[in-house]
Amino acid sequence: MTSTLSLAVFPAVSPTSSVATKAASTRYFAPRRLGHVNLWVDDLGRSEQFYRDVCGLNIEFWEPDLQATFLGTGHTPHDLGMMKTTGGVDRYGRNGLLQLPGTIGLAPGLNHLAWELENEAELVAAWRRLKAAGVPLDLTVDHQVAHSVYVFDPDRNYNEFYCDTVKDWRSVLNGEMELLTSVWDPAAQEPSTTGLYDDAPALRHVQGAAVHPRRITHAVLVTPKLDAMLEFYTRIGGLHAVHRANGVAWLGASHAAYPYNLVLVEGDEATYHHASFELADEASFDSALAALRTRDIAPLRVVDVPWKRALFLADPDGQCSEWYVRREGFADVPRGSADTPWLV
Ligand SMILES: [Fe+2]
Repeated sequence: MTSTLSLAVFPAVSPTSSVATKAASTRYFAPRRLGHVNLWVDDLGRSEQFYRDVCGLNIEFWEPDLQATFLGTGHTPHDLGMMKTTGGVDRYGRNGLLQLPGTIGLAPGLNHLAWELENEAELVAAWRRLKAAGVPLDLTVDHQVAHSVYVFDPDRNYNEFYCDTVKDWRSVLNGEMELLTSVWDPAAQEPSTTGLYDDAPALRHVQGAAVHPRRITHAVLVTPKLDAMLEFYTRIGGLHAVHRANGVAWLGASHAAYPYNLVLVEGDEATYHHASFELADEASFDSALAALRTRDIAPLRVVDVPWKRALFLADPDGQCSEWYVRREGFADVPRGSADTPWLV
């Protein structure tokens, strides 16, 4: 049960197509890939331990004053960021920047999705065009290794569009850090046209962890506004549809090594369902299952379907993450199934 894309909703991105030319001229950001997911957590130490010792994400750096920790595989400065819930109290970055207002982060959940762009010039050009078009934007900040523009999607999921500003990010971010983030004025100077992401990064392996992921690949959002979300993520977010069937849309960015980076699932309530981390192969997946069993950690679900094998873990706050191996094809489930977010 598959369906082809509706070109009216998803202009194909092909260099020779007139539809593609229109799509390219009307979209704003143009991400390479999902760089990271950032979560609100209730207890940083407990979550650090879980994502490092069970999930195999290396702790790269942390900001005690912001109450934030950043972990990853090495492909980007972090695959997973986490910040302690605010409890209604404002938290500040450098130079008085109100970075985390106490009105947000009141409970564990998604803080933001972050999209890596090719370079600063593309980020600034998109920012200028969005401003000119009157699209509401949130913060623009300097993270010391990246510049970022933040935007809400129609379901109020927060999205960061960023470019790296330092290729050797570990020379800046390593271990315990002072506050990192300050205000950035995108118009202050001529933006760089150089891509500063690291295409040959030194990857990290967490000895003794149960799971050994290669990298984060995508996030899954449930939405009651599928069409509005598709409009946002294709036109403003600059993603393209890879596949659409039965109330599910798979969206990709430009990096050829990632088949897709976001899955939108039609549902009654706007929800961040999970982030997905890919394992190297089925042997690695079997090892992860065995190691979890040894530790008496029961996955929330284990899925074995023609298009993937996956296990889902609940973190200490009950938030879900997926650790999987992709096979061929896309989820083949009826529209509106409660199982769909687990199967895509
Ligand atoms: Fe971020």
